[in-house]
Amino acid sequence: MQTNPWLNIPFSDYENHMTEVGQSQILSRLFAGCLTDYKPASVALLGCATGNGLENITDQQIPSIHAVDINPVFLDQLNQRFAGAIPGLSTHCIDLQNEELPFSGIDLIFCGLLLEYVEPETVVPKLAEVLASNGVIVFVIQQSLSSSFVTKTRFTSLEKLSGFGREVNTEDLSVILSKSNLVVDKSIDIQVNESKLFKVLTCRNVENK
Ligand SMILES: C[S@@+](CC[C@H](N)C(=O)[O-])C[C@H]1O[C@@H](n2cnc3c(N)ncnc32)[C@H](O)[C@@H]1O
Repeated sequence: MQTNPWLNIPFSDYENHMTEVGQSQILSRLFAGCLTDYKPASVALLGCATGNGLENITDQQIPSIHAVDINPVFLDQLNQRFAGAIPGLSTHCIDLQNEELPFSGIDLIFCGLLLEYVEPETVVPKLAEVLASNGVIVFVIQQSLSSSFVTKTRFTSLEKLSGFGREVNTEDLSVILSKSNLVVDKSIDIQVNESKLFKVLTCRNVENK
C-alpha cells in the first residue's frame, strides 16, 4: 500500500508553510470562536497536526479533548507543547480513512482542512457517528480560485501533497452530509488571499436543527 505522504512532511516545514500562507492563524481563530460559541464539554480536533488552535484551550476547563492525526511526529510535538497545560487532552494516532474513532458523544468536532486528504464519503459518516446528539461539527474546506492546490512557499516538502490532496466538491459533500443525517446550520466564506478561500460549514444532527 502507498505510504500516506503526510507521514513524510517534517513538522517544522508544515508549521512554517501554514504560518507563511496565513492559514494557521485563520484556523486557530475559527477554532477559538467555536469554543466561545458552543462552550463544549468534549472536543475532537481532527487532522490536528501539531495542535494549532489548542493554545486557545489552556486557560479553559474542557474535561475532554481528543486530538487525532495520522502523523505520530506531529502528535509528539503536540504532546510536548500542550499535554502539561491541558489535563483532559488525549492524542490518537489514527488513519481516519481506514480506522474507527475510539471515542463518542463529542460536543464539538472541528475538522480543519482534513477532508481534502481523505474520502469524505468514508470519513464524514464516522464523524457523525461520534457526535453527541446536540453536538456541532465544523468543517473548514479550501477553495482555490486560481493558484495550485498547495500554495507554493520555500518549504518544498509540502509539494508532495499536490498530487495527493484535492479540493472537496461541495455538491458531493452536501449529499454525504445529508446521508449522514447532518444538516448545515451556517456556511461562511473567508478570503485567505486573492486566490484562495475557506468555506466554513457548521453542521448539526438533523433532529437538532
Ligand atoms: C492541512 S493539515 C490540517 C490543518 C490543521 N487542522 C491546522 O490547523 O494546522 C491536514 C492534517 O491532516 C492529517 N491527515 C491527513 N490524512 C489523514 C488521515 N487519513 N487520518 C488522520 N489524519 C490525517 C495530516 O497529517 C495533517 O496534519
